[in-house]
Amino acid sequence: MKEIIYADNSATTVVSEKSLAAMLPCFRDNYGNPSAIYAYGQDAKKLLEDSRRTVAKAIGALNNEIYFTSGGTESDNWAIISACELKNKTGGHIISTAIEHNAVLRTLEKLKGKGYEITLLKPDKNGQITPEQLENAIRKDTVLVSVMMANNVVGTILPIKDLCETAHKHRIVFHTDAVQAAAHIPIDVRSLGVDLLSMSAHKFHGPKGVGALFVKLALKPAAYITGGGQEKGYRSGTENVPGIVGMAAAIEEGVENLQNNTRHLTVLRDKLIEHTLKIPGTCLTGDPDKRLPGHASFVFDGGKNGVHLINMLNEADIYASSGSACSASSTEAPHVLTAMGYDPKIAQSALRISLSHYNTEKEIDTINKKLPLLVAELRQRKGQY
Ligand SMILES: Cc1ncc(COP(=O)(O)O)c(C=O)c1O
Repeated sequence: MKEIIYADNSATTVVSEKSLAAMLPCFRDNYGNPSAIYAYGQDAKKLLEDSRRTVAKAIGALNNEIYFTSGGTESDNWAIISACELKNKTGGHIISTAIEHNAVLRTLEKLKGKGYEITLLKPDKNGQITPEQLENAIRKDTVLVSVMMANNVVGTILPIKDLCETAHKHRIVFHTDAVQAAAHIPIDVRSLGVDLLSMSAHKFHGPKGVGALFVKLALKPAAYITGGGQEKGYRSGTENVPGIVGMAAAIEEGVENLQNNTRHLTVLRDKLIEHTLKIPGTCLTGDPDKRLPGHASFVFDGGKNGVHLINMLNEADIYASSGSACSASSTEAPHVLTAMGYDPKIAQSALRISLSHYNTEKEIDTINKKLPLLVAELRQRKGQY
């Protein structure tokens, strides 16, 4: 069997053994509907509530502040809609950033047609947003600030605690998309102060199609999906018990091993960055210091289309991407990089290598050996790079 180097962990991750082992009995043995009153139902209900407790503990929240969803996209949609409905049903001003995931940006666009005005803060060259920028953008009618905790394209970690403090000085609800951050960097909702926080299990070795939204107890989410009244009536639909159980096992494992994983990943990431930057005309994108432990991203001078490089890496059995998983095959420059001030032509050459604790030093050595050769080969192909 050929050996693949999987280095696209910001797109998705392998389900861990612990997560898988926790899920399997839910398909065959504990398959009851948590709303049913007989033993099968009550067993499933217990698994659901135990999982809620585990997910809450992982981010320093209370059990009744966690609502399960179908993933990061739904959590982001729900958070934004909730914050708007809480404050003002007819319109208002929302502040976010130009580097958010489309789960946030497209939801905001939809609100634009419904009487809301949107301000997207522009990041600096490292993908950072400052509290001063936020302060200057706040208006009397601002109802929500939504800023991601860590960026999926460039790995920058944003100053959420400070930004949240700024929003709260003006009594504005604060949401953070922590899809790339949860179980990868420490999160404590109380010390951060956030009101709403989105997570997705498949980004931390849990299954796909399941996530959670943290909603501070003082706030109530808007009823998002109506039906049978699950999730306290706010998000109806029979709960995805296997997925939720898998998510809880994965986040617990991730948080327990956070320090060790961070140490391992930082060594691999820095070795990769150091080596890649030796390729002439290569530039690291994102914050050189405040970045996710396993995240390395680059652009190449004179580069035209990162898809060619991604394809060549693919042929060399190295799986990486140019930026967001949703636009992996797109030849357009990632909006995150253009918002950070990169020329669209340079931004098109983006390469993202995102590692997990399953990656080894040997794999990094292989990438470090092959990447310079592939870039050189591509540059020789006239008109392509
Ligand atoms: C920052 C960010 N937010 C939201 C999402 C969407 O999450 P999901 O794939 O669980 O819908 C992603 C996925 O790539 C992401 O990176």
